[in-house]
Amino acid sequence: MSESSLWDQFGGDAVMAPLLADFYQRVAASPIAPLFPPGVGAPDSETYRKQFAFQSDFWGGPVRYAPWRGHPRMRARHLPFPIDQAAADTWMACMSAAVEVSAMPVHLREDYLRQIRNIAQAMINQP
Ligand code: HEM
Repeated sequence: MSESSLWDQFGGDAVMAPLLADFYQRVAASPIAPLFPPGVGAPDSETYRKQFAFQSDFWGGPVRYAPWRGHPRMRARHLPFPIDQAAADTWMACMSAAVEVSAMPVHLREDYLRQIRNIAQAMINQP
């Protein structure tokens, strides 16, 4: 029996594209906005497109990030930005809010957020 990917179980592009677009609108209106390139909250911003591609690969959807950006090296790519616990918490608050109003199946949300939170914690590079 073939199993569908988590990306598909979340609802695939149809759910994840608007969820992540909403996420970056929230980031743009949050205290961590200055860390990001101007226009991060605009529809189809480059940051949004990178995140969408990354999560597509990460959750077993279409492989989009690696052919475009190479190995994720997430921690290394975040080192140029000062990220402390408060910044990670703000980032996660934006993500939780975006998931909350999304069409992602409710029973998958907790696991989704737990794994994303683990990555967010690993991005902390400041006391
Ligand atoms: C902990 C709080 C976080 C902060 C403050 C943060 C901040 C940033 C910033 C400022 C950028 C550069 C934007 C750009 O290149 O357009 C970036 C890039 C990126 N972030 Fe984060 N990030 C955080 C957590 C995460 C998490 C949890 C993930 C994955 C689930 C993630 C995935 C990415 C990706 C895929 C990129 C683009 C990398 C590239 O290809 O250049 N970030 N992040």
